[in-house]
Amino acid sequence: MNEQQRKKSTTAGFVVERMTLSDIHEVLAIDAASFPKPWPAASWRHEIETNANAQCWVARAAPPPLPFWQRLLGRTAPHGAVLGIVCMWIIFEEAHIAAIAVRPDARGLHIGDALMRTCMEKARAANCTRMLLEVRVSNFVAQNLYRKFGFQVIGRRPRYYTDNHEDALVMENTHVTPILQPHS
Ligand SMILES: CC(C)(COP(=O)(O)OP(=O)(O)OC[C@H]1O[C@@H](n2cnc3c(N)ncnc32)[C@H](O)[C@@H]1OP(=O)(O)O)[C@@H](O)C(=O)NCCC(=O)NCCS
Repeated sequence: MNEQQRKKSTTAGFVVERMTLSDIHEVLAIDAASFPKPWPAASWRHEIETNANAQCWVARAAPPPLPFWQRLLGRTAPHGAVLGIVCMWIIFEEAHIAAIAVRPDARGLHIGDALMRTCMEKARAANCTRMLLEVRVSNFVAQNLYRKFGFQVIGRRPRYYTDNHEDALVMENTHVTPILQPHS
């Protein structure tokens, strides 16, 4: 993402950027605070570094602007704290939201919204026609978020979650309009 795109995604004090290995400790902390069975570090590393089908993004607190004299000296602001994480897999025309979570003390600030928006944009740019995800039947907050982005329930997987054997709802969005390539 170039600087112009980065600035465009700045919303209410945070920016959405590609996840890097240097984010891993904060990513693991958010994952552990959000899910009963968080991914191990090796899985996140794989998604960030190796999995060509994965796109991982973080919402990061926007650092305060540097004073004029520091910018004159060519200094850049330090990275802000990671507030939210998302991992999406793109396989041919299908995008799958594999994990999305916001740091507990930063929820309700439209960070999940911004991460979903990023996924929608990237799925569209990759010419996906369909987005899919699983969500616990009891997770009304996440279901609300997904409905807001046009997802609808298309199925149910009984006892999908191994920690408490809760069912998963399968939600789908088929309005990921592909960008049409101009005829040559
Ligand atoms: C689900 C989650 C990512 C939402 O992130 P968030 O940053 O808190 O959500 P946002 O502030 O962006 O809210 C976006 C939408 O989610 C829904 N939502 C958010 N908080 C809600 C709440 N407390 N009650 C009901 N709906 C809520 C609303 O539709 C909201 O849109 P609106 O503000 O226009 O009404 C976050 O709650 C989280 O990390 N939960 C734990 C992990 C998890 O369950 N992940 C999903 C697994 S499938």
